[in-house]
Amino acid sequence: MQRHLITSAIPYINGIKHLGNLVGSQLPADLYARFQRARGNEVLFLCATDEHGTPAELAAAKAGQPVAEYCAEMHAVQSELARGFRLSFDHFGRSSSPQNHALTQHFAGRLADAGLIREVSERQVYSNADGRFLPDRYIEGTCPNCGYDRARGDQCENCTKQLDPTDLIDARSAISGSTDLEVRETKHLYLRQSELKDDLDAWIDSKADWPILTTSIAKKWLHDGDGLQDRGITRDLDWGIPVRRGDAEWPGMEGKVFYVWFDAPIEYIACAGEWADAQGGADWERWWRTDKGADDVRYTQFMGKDNVPFHTLSFPATLLGSGEPWKMVDHLKSFNYLNYDGGQFSTSQGRGVFMNQALNILPADYWRWWLLSNCPETSDSEFTWELFQQGVNKDLADVLGNFVSRVTKFCRSKFGEVVPDGGVFGPLEQDLIAELDKRLAAYTTHMENMEVRKSAQELRAIWVAGNEYLQAAAPWATIKEDEAQAAMQIRLGLNLIGLYAALSAPFLPDTADTLAATMGVEVSKWPESIAKALNALAPGHTFQVPDNLFAKIDDAARATWEAQFSGAA
Ligand code: 2FM
Ligand code: ZN
Repeated sequence: MQRHLITSAIPYINGIKHLGNLVGSQLPADLYARFQRARGNEVLFLCATDEHGTPAELAAAKAGQPVAEYCAEMHAVQSELARGFRLSFDHFGRSSSPQNHALTQHFAGRLADAGLIREVSERQVYSNADGRFLPDRYIEGTCPNCGYDRARGDQCENCTKQLDPTDLIDARSAISGSTDLEVRETKHLYLRQSELKDDLDAWIDSKADWPILTTSIAKKWLHDGDGLQDRGITRDLDWGIPVRRGDAEWPGMEGKVFYVWFDAPIEYIACAGEWADAQGGADWERWWRTDKGADDVRYTQFMGKDNVPFHTLSFPATLLGSGEPWKMVDHLKSFNYLNYDGGQFSTSQGRGVFMNQALNILPADYWRWWLLSNCPETSDSEFTWELFQQGVNKDLADVLGNFVSRVTKFCRSKFGEVVPDGGVFGPLEQDLIAELDKRLAAYTTHMENMEVRKSAQELRAIWVAGNEYLQAAAPWATIKEDEAQAAMQIRLGLNLIGLYAALSAPFLPDTADTLAATMGVEVSKWPESIAKALNALAPGHTFQVPDNLFAKIDDAARATWEAQFSGAA
């Protein structure tokens, strides 16, 4: 039995995520976790909300709530949506947890003890009206280059010139609009990543099986220009993890918090602690400490491509720099972007489908299937309502749904709701078994390798093979001459439904449950041999004809949704 630690990038707390966010990490991570569990392996699958940073503070202010209260509410909302999409996390934690506070401060202390943190004095813009330092992008003003009057302190979006906040003419706070700003001296901590460059380089070189996309991003940051830069890990905010050196105060750092990208990946570890506590004291260190059993764990991370530098460099720098035996990632699966109908998903314009809206209009499995089978794996991909309609109608309704309905209804009408006997399989059945054995092997390999689209194609081909068999065997014709033969064909068809439940479960967990319930069994573990799986239901076993598994999406519904989610309103 293998042990798999699986993490999905942790979504920001500020607002409900759209389908592009979902398919970029949580959903494929869930697919893999479900597959590994079905294989009989031990899995710890973790995710959490990423709760710190300015966006969280601003979202809370906009909602008129204290930030802690806002985060608690949004965590509950995101948990509920995760359940709705059947994301099978062993724990859905919070980066604001006490466990993460302690662990983040612990890492900072270890890094400081190792001489890997330096203090830097910086000049930063302070807003008297807001009573806070302003991050560069929360300062607006007129661009000295092109005169655009809404340039941001880091860059002018009109002429793309990189700016310093002090370059702006008539600078004002983007939060309050106040121009009562001054430059103040303030001290920050920097992680000396440059010192760890050779260690990181060697570690990345040891990952021969990583995709080029991943290693090339990491290598670029390591070697381009002046090489790996030290990174500021503190911020002047109220909300966040207070800067401490382990258990001790950090003189000069009073009132400051760690930068959100410092504490967020540490939450992967802290989340295991949260999970253990929620279990009444399970052992989390056997998943995370190589001196406590984690050396035989295989650790896989899922994320969007923009997260890759943080996971290949910054977080590993934190772990290596601590000098402690933490488990490092073995495989990192990253995704491109899903676009929405000729543009991008936009939270501010309400353009695209968000997780809550998706579940309001259709069950989770419709979305899971389409998103996974069209995920942005080797390049960006695009959601359109037409593609979605086609995917649902053709793959789910016409192929899988239709097969189940034809077999069960035909059986009920000729033999009753009971698996008929009818003797041994003939050449047609042996051919099907041979084909499915090959396809099962390919499907399993793709799933092992996390090749999501190829896996979906193979699963679909397995459903298609059932339909083709049914068409060729034609029990509705056979029965006129040879009832026993027709009974054997239908027995095989009913057993295929049980097989489909097991093989479809990682993609379509609810449908798998329905199929298994229909056949009066549990969803079985991953099949080893098709012949065995197709003899699982013995003659005499009773079943029930299910309701229509998938409703087709008609053109009227498609047009309504297209208009509803265009962001035009
Ligand atoms: O890009 C994002 O959505 C971040 N919240 C991901 C953080 S992943 C990790 F570092 F925890
Ligand atoms: Zn400009």
